[in-house]
Amino acid sequence: MKNFKRTTITTALPYANGPVHIGHLAGVYVPADIYARYLRLQGEEVLMIGGSDEHGVPITIKAKNEGITPQDVVDRYHTIIKKSFEDFGITFDVYSRTTSETHKKTASDYFKKLYEKGEFVEKTSEQYYDEEAKQFLADRYITGTCPHCKNEGAYGDQCEACGTSLNPLDLINPKSTFTGSTPVLKETKHWYLPLDKHEDWLKEWILNGHKEWKSNVYGQCKSWLDSGLQPRAVTRDLDWGVPVPVENAEGKVLYVWFDAPIGYISNTIELLPDTWEKWWKDPETKLVHFIGKDNIVFHCIMFPAMLKAEGSFILPENVPANEFLNLEGDKISTSKNWAVWLHEYLMDFPNKQDVLRYVLTANAPETKDNDFTWKDFQARNNNELVAIFGNFVNRALVLTHKYFEGKIPARGELTDYDKETLQEFENVKQEMEKLLTVYRFRDALKEAMNLARIGNKYLADTEPWKLAKTDMARVATIMNVSLQITANLAIAFEPFLPFSSAKLRQMLNMQSFKWSDLGNFDVLKDEHQLNQPELLFEKIEDEVIEAQVQKLLDTKKANEASNYKPNVIKETIAFDDFLKLDIRVGTVLACQKVPKADKLLEFKIDDGMGGRTIVSGIAAHYSPEDLIGKQVCFIANLAPRKLKGIESQGMILSAENADGRLVVINPLSEVLAGSEVK
Ligand code: MF3
Ligand code: ZN
Repeated sequence: MKNFKRTTITTALPYANGPVHIGHLAGVYVPADIYARYLRLQGEEVLMIGGSDEHGVPITIKAKNEGITPQDVVDRYHTIIKKSFEDFGITFDVYSRTTSETHKKTASDYFKKLYEKGEFVEKTSEQYYDEEAKQFLADRYITGTCPHCKNEGAYGDQCEACGTSLNPLDLINPKSTFTGSTPVLKETKHWYLPLDKHEDWLKEWILNGHKEWKSNVYGQCKSWLDSGLQPRAVTRDLDWGVPVPVENAEGKVLYVWFDAPIGYISNTIELLPDTWEKWWKDPETKLVHFIGKDNIVFHCIMFPAMLKAEGSFILPENVPANEFLNLEGDKISTSKNWAVWLHEYLMDFPNKQDVLRYVLTANAPETKDNDFTWKDFQARNNNELVAIFGNFVNRALVLTHKYFEGKIPARGELTDYDKETLQEFENVKQEMEKLLTVYRFRDALKEAMNLARIGNKYLADTEPWKLAKTDMARVATIMNVSLQITANLAIAFEPFLPFSSAKLRQMLNMQSFKWSDLGNFDVLKDEHQLNQPELLFEKIEDEVIEAQVQKLLDTKKANEASNYKPNVIKETIAFDDFLKLDIRVGTVLACQKVPKADKLLEFKIDDGMGGRTIVSGIAAHYSPEDLIGKQVCFIANLAPRKLKGIESQGMILSAENADGRLVVINPLSEVLAGSEVK
């Protein structure tokens, strides 16, 4: 492998249109921080760059919805994000933002340089334009009917109902979200980065040169490269962003995915105005991008093409992108508030940064999507951090205070078991190094935890508390070994659990340590004085976890309630279409819960025609006894379908309230079963 002198670590710049959540942390910031801390502990020169991504259409939409400026939006979230990263112990050397003056100038100059070198192609195309608002419409500013599922609220870039990616021209009956008017097509000029011209060297560089990249990253690159690259527009018609610095480009800004990665460079310049170039232009610098999987094409294809086109920059050595972390089985979503927000976690769990860091690393989505659950969070804290790591450390320290007044006792001759225990540390050190070098943080953490397990077992097996009356010399040896193990744990865990490691170092009264001390069993000298022990981790009780789960349930309910859309009316239908529906009144003869289906009730309905069975998803809203004997309205000619093995012959009608509550429709006074509703 190539030898590098220093490492530039970049972390995807989070959009400043919302706070940071556990998905961001698990995918990007926790692994990047582990890597940076590990390299620093190795004595290497490292620069870790972060910052907020403050341009792009979603920010302008959020501002418009709230009646504030885009600058207000990004000021609000940049502040929250920056503070929460600091409190969480993510050790950025710089955390700046893409609305900084340095960035605007850097991005603008970068564009100009490529423009002057002739690295862009200019193209004119037709795009939707709002004649009332007098502006071109970004994809997200156009809504219409999805051609696939007929959802009427589809956006120009995507239909959120069926998940299909769209082009604004695909929308049926497009409308501008600014004025509600129908947009017209109008010509506009943009600059494109001709990725097709970069295809050959990209193929060689990635497909032949970087076979060691993670398979999810390599695979995505291969599929993009195999299907052929197209020129990508790097400018937009928008009034929020870095203005396009060429003549006749009024009303145009750099595309957010052009300016944002340049933010890595701008932030380095802001921190190191005189020496930044060595971090970006010296071939002996290793550039590593930490990102989530949705950013792969931008960091492996588009940004490298931009760097190459400029000519004086190095290319990334690796892009260890992660898959996604889900939350309690559902995709994390900022707009649906389906997330555990970092700033809220820090408030709800003071001084428990390491618990979250531990859980997110132990369950990191390194090779596939993973799920975060509060139950797993609690179990990992109570059964691993508290019961293994914390328990061992606490016993080692407390016993030393008890038997040796907190001074490290000299050790006598080691038994074979002592020696084997120490040998394991040497092996694990090498294993951890191997794993950390190839970005396998989850397995590296497992190794560190194994050391704690070995320590815990060592004390349980040697039982010094039983020997204290008869063999203090042996107790001295056991405690010495246990404390050397403790000191080793402080080192091994530093990249992962920096707060606990610092606490441990304080208790051990160690000034500093280096990675190379791992596996050394004379880190603590005889007679060295320890400080008072404190608990490293605390048990997390059920109530605390239940409160978090309840918070998510409330979110879910609120989201379901958002089906209430009084001003969105479906497409007009002909009277004949209405006549096709056969709606009847029936009387509920029997009603019961469907086993193993939380939402379903099974009805026997007197329909005036001998009776029928209907299964309805209203169990969350009614108990069976509420409805027996009542009259309901149902669709009588709906094609039957099977629900949990029961054939449902129709559908009971309910109204949905704004809070998501379903209320069954019932005639004002009783009618004969089977009466038609019209
Ligand atoms: N803001 C983007 C996202 O959250 C990431 C930007 S990474 C950068 O997906 F390279 F563009 F900065
Ligand atoms: Zn759709």
